[in-house]
Amino acid sequence: MTKYRYLTTTKTTKIARTIDEFRSIRRDLAVGDQSVGFVPTMGALHDGHLSLLRGAREQNNVLIASVFINSKQFGPNEDFEKYPRNLEKDTELLAEAGADLIFAPSTEIMYPKDFCTFVRAEGFDHTEEEKCRPGFFRGVATVVTKLLNIVRPTRAYFGQKDAVQCSVIRRIVEDLSIPTEVVVMPTVRESDGLAMSSRNAYLTPEEREVAGIVYASLNAGRDVWRQHVLDETVSDPLPAAVVRDAVVETLRTEKMVREIEYVSIDSWRNMRSVETMPRAESFVVSLAVRVGSVRLIDNVLLEG
Ligand code: PAJ
Repeated sequence: MTKYRYLTTTKTTKIARTIDEFRSIRRDLAVGDQSVGFVPTMGALHDGHLSLLRGAREQNNVLIASVFINSKQFGPNEDFEKYPRNLEKDTELLAEAGADLIFAPSTEIMYPKDFCTFVRAEGFDHTEEEKCRPGFFRGVATVVTKLLNIVRPTRAYFGQKDAVQCSVIRRIVEDLSIPTEVVVMPTVRESDGLAMSSRNAYLTPEEREVAGIVYASLNAGRDVWRQHVLDETVSDPLPAAVVRDAVVETLRTEKMVREIEYVSIDSWRNMRSVETMPRAESFVVSLAVRVGSVRLIDNVLLEG
């Protein structure tokens, strides 16, 4: 029996299924002061993920990606069981994107029977996303901390599409003194503005047709903000309700938007919800809506 049971997917891309395998391969991959870029994913890769890989490939000597559907960030009524799984296709895409090493552990490897340690960034319990998905960020914080400990990257790459996730990860990296730089990459969108997401595949053709309304509504909010920033004759600050109303009104024009879970205006600095928006500051407008039965999230940054 070979010492390490890893498959060689191409001449250069390796895949490790256990932590020991991973560590052994990683040791030989990045030597001396070579930088390691890391992109954690849950697979079902699309162009959004690939843009993170491109960024990481350009900025580092070694590129590592993980594919792990993290059961701990799914609620009891969420789609863990039906989350799309296709490791073979993902491996191909990662190899094409230039990954040197893929970490694709099983749930048992990441969470053995006695697993009981969790990471929680308490300052985020107030966010709308946490209220809608209790425990979600604890699951993300735990797995990302664990992955960063295993991979020990120089830089780790995350998408702005999951704005609160980025803030939580920045926080834990700083608070727990994890020696990794967190890099946030812009949201990649379809031609009608819909943010790319593995969950878009659940939309029916009719729902997909109208789903561009989600980004259009955020742009309506951004337009109101831009007018405020440009028109110095109107009094500052702008009530956040004005931006929120512009987003909600646009969403309401489409009846397939079945439910607006939240539209939240937060300070970009600390993701605290705000009631007023001073011209000189920056904010994130984020939302979660259901188009048909599919939950879509998106956000835009409003820079003052
Ligand atoms: P997943 O949804 O697979 O996303 C992996 C990374 O891709 C995340 O950083 C996410 O923000 C980014 N991403 C997704 N869609 C994007 C888009 N349209 N444009 C740019 N980036 C995009 O997010 C997770 O997995 C998990 O929570 C994870 C961090 C892996 C922890 O389990």
